[in-house]
Amino acid sequence: MGANIENIEFIHGNMMDLDWSVYNAFYLYNPFMENVYSPSIIDETVSLKLEYYYKYIDVVRRKLSLLPLGTRVVTYHGFGGDMPHGYRLVSSRSFDSDYLMCWVKETTWVPTLYFDHEGTPSP
Ligand SMILES: C[S@@+](CC[C@H](N)C(=O)[O-])C[C@H]1O[C@@H](n2cnc3c(N)ncnc32)[C@H](O)[C@@H]1O
Repeated sequence: MGANIENIEFIHGNMMDLDWSVYNAFYLYNPFMENVYSPSIIDETVSLKLEYYYKYIDVVRRKLSLLPLGTRVVTYHGFGGDMPHGYRLVSSRSFDSDYLMCWVKETTWVPTLYFDHEGTPSP
């Protein structure tokens, strides 16, 4: 790598398997579109399915819901779903083909029940 940056680590994997609780800031750039829009495919090696699109959106919303106050999220072209309760849009700036949006978790909302992509309640 050419960049001389010391405090950076690349983790190659699915965000579902990552413990998000050890981070306080996230960047989501329309990550799951490949599952539903073939022209956007950028990695031929990953398995793509319509059901993954909805599943991943649910997982992101659930993970963000469980993070502490002060958590920051930047979205660009969103992530496919609405930001969970508690996140406030603190800035939005037009950039190229969409808006770069900055969100901060400011209030706590305790999730009581979620449903998976088949409509089954999940913990
Ligand atoms: C539109 S690209 C954005 C790439 C880069 N973050 C940027 O800003 O240029 C979306 C990225 O999300 C990644 N992605 C899609 N599904 C993912 C998943 N389940 N877990 C982790 N990354 C995923 C894709 O591989 C791709 O690199």
